[in-house]
Amino acid sequence: MTGYEERTSNSRRLYKRANRVLPAGVSYGIRALPPYPFYLKKAKGVTVTDVDGNEYTDYWVGHGALILGHAPDVVIDAVMKQLPYGTHYGFSHEHEIELAERIVKHVPSADMVRYTSSGTEANMYGTRLARAYTGRDKMLKIEGGWHGGYDSLHAYVGQPYGRSESAGLNSKVIEDTYAVPYNDLEAAEKMAKDHELACIVLEPVMGAAGFLTPEPGYLEGLREICDDTDTLLIFDEVITGFRLGTGGAQGYYGVKPDLTFMGKVIGGGFPVGAFCGPVEIMEMIDHNKYPDPEKRSAHGGTFTGNPISMVAGSATIDALETGRIHRHIDSLGEKMREGLQEIFERHDIPVSVTGVGSTFGIHFQKDKPLNAGDTARNDIPATRAYFRHMLESGIIYLSPTVSHSWISSPHTEKDIEDYLAATEDYIRAYNP
Ligand SMILES: Cc1ncc(COP(=O)(O)O)c(C=O)c1O
Repeated sequence: MTGYEERTSNSRRLYKRANRVLPAGVSYGIRALPPYPFYLKKAKGVTVTDVDGNEYTDYWVGHGALILGHAPDVVIDAVMKQLPYGTHYGFSHEHEIELAERIVKHVPSADMVRYTSSGTEANMYGTRLARAYTGRDKMLKIEGGWHGGYDSLHAYVGQPYGRSESAGLNSKVIEDTYAVPYNDLEAAEKMAKDHELACIVLEPVMGAAGFLTPEPGYLEGLREICDDTDTLLIFDEVITGFRLGTGGAQGYYGVKPDLTFMGKVIGGGFPVGAFCGPVEIMEMIDHNKYPDPEKRSAHGGTFTGNPISMVAGSATIDALETGRIHRHIDSLGEKMREGLQEIFERHDIPVSVTGVGSTFGIHFQKDKPLNAGDTARNDIPATRAYFRHMLESGIIYLSPTVSHSWISSPHTEKDIEDYLAATEDYIRAYNP
């Protein structure tokens, strides 16, 4: 591939046009690739093709949602079958039961499910439910944890932690949100003992921070702290749900939270979110059991249980049930992590590769980051240069400053070898 600017003239034109109607020319800031984004024409498997005809092997896979890759046949078939019967009912239907049954079957903490249209909303309604159930207002999250744009959890995301994450956030709402570093049980225990917390909410594997994994005993320790202090333990499995095996991170690590938030994979490439948990907590949404609105936890949404998202999600979970796909993507993930670590070590370049299963993160720093604060040591110019090199090699992931990627079922051994070869090229070009 030649230089990005030389081969993306149509994208450059679209970018100019987009800037007139979309702030920054994009629909989500994270997609604003430097110097300007390429605009897609089509995507199939793990190949995305832009409006100039350039092809990239995709390791971003729809923000991690596309575990079967883009437009997988099983999902297309299920959606095509559903389309003539209705795209959005606004009434109850069997497909929403079918997907919930699959979630309940696989996710250890899930007895009942309620849907949302995004992971953000799952966090919003789910933490409301936690406050309703415990009668407490305060929440503890993890520094660097990303739970979407819901005001109460849109705090302590970027460094320095504690500054406002966005203009327009209601500072009063955030007053009841606290944060501690990931993998720090002592700090979490102190918070839980000093404050009456409704919940500790965390990503069991930290995604946006670059796929940081729990140290042995960490998740178990949080479970104990929550049990000792009558605090609900919540796993935000928007990323890890159905990705770390069908049981998500709770199945993988063997720690059962009280509530689980989901999104991404369970929509099969269509918008979705869900929160789930035991009957005793979930039924607080049931207006028959809780007719008094002051005692009930309110939930709703125009597109909740959308039939297209439901059939796409069920088709995806069905494809995952044999375990063959997880074995494939997990083994490619291991090959990728080991290969990358070996290459950087051989060239004596300080890099720490993180991740688990089909996820991997590359941190240009010597020591393995145990929490998001540790990632401040990441060498940003090197991370940016690597991103640019990979882009020019026909490999795409996000973001230019935090390299975190997903492997999906259409990825092959050859894709991993190409990725590793492009990494060797990068080292030769930038660290001769
Ligand atoms: C762990 C986690 N929670 C919540 C969200 C928010 O989900 P959505 O973007 O669907 O609102 C994300 C999105 O990336 C996420 O990674």
